[in-house]
Amino acid sequence: MTHAEPVYEHPYPPAELESEHPFRVLDFVEYPPDEMAERAAAFEALMTRRRSPRLFSDRPVPRELIESAIRTAATAPSGAHKQPWRFVATKSAEVKTAIRAAAEEEERVNYLESRMNDEWQEALAPIGTDHHKEFLELAPWIVVLFEERFERRPDGETRKNYYVKESVGIAAGIFISALHNMGLATLTHTPSPMAFLTRMLGRPDNERPFVMFPIGYPLPDVKVPDFDRKPLDEVMVMVDEPAD
Ligand SMILES: Cc1cc2nc3c(=O)[nH]c(=O)nc-3n(C[C@H](O)[C@H](O)[C@H](O)COP(=O)(O)O)c2cc1C
Repeated sequence: MTHAEPVYEHPYPPAELESEHPFRVLDFVEYPPDEMAERAAAFEALMTRRRSPRLFSDRPVPRELIESAIRTAATAPSGAHKQPWRFVATKSAEVKTAIRAAAEEEERVNYLESRMNDEWQEALAPIGTDHHKEFLELAPWIVVLFEERFERRPDGETRKNYYVKESVGIAAGIFISALHNMGLATLTHTPSPMAFLTRMLGRPDNERPFVMFPIGYPLPDVKVPDFDRKPLDEVMVMVDEPAD
């Protein structure tokens, strides 16, 4: 039996809107229920294996793979479709060395001169991170994701961007997933403060570094903290009726 679809009182797009702005029919692929369950299980199993290594091999990674991950990340939804992200990629030894030196200096102040408070240090203790960031030089690629705080048009006019952090955070998640899916590893890295990246990578003042991703193959037999993830009943809440 075919499912009877609801008839909307307020269809989208209204005819008047469509006469002014172009629309297209959604390209949606529906799978049979068995295949949906299989795909869900396969993707969950794939993502469950994702971890953030802190030692990378220096084996080269083709540029095409990095470009594909960026194109994939840039499919993210964004507030008012402003796409407020810039992925700045480098495989230059000179740039990576400069990034490592600046990141280590910021992190040295964080870790050794107590810019990081006790509570923060306590949270990081099981991970055991410190100010050494050798992997920034050794990983074949670094991609720095910048958020575009506002749009600057070629004529110098500016326009607001909306929900920038939410949008860029979603793009970051898709980027990490795309890399993992193609068999590459990355560490979500935030050597705070990251303002040095704007200067070093020659970015304009409407862009702010959001997160830095060293990317490559993990060093063979690299160790990661023996962490478990919260079970479903700790991360999902079912609500069946309004609370008030
Ligand atoms: C926003 C963000 C910032 C992070 N910054 C750092 C960082 O600066 N250095 C680091 O070693 N790990 C950093 N991490 C990685 C986390 O420590 C890691 O994701 C967490 O311990 C869980 O491990 P997993 O990614 O292997 O599942 C960051 C993660 C996120 C999401």
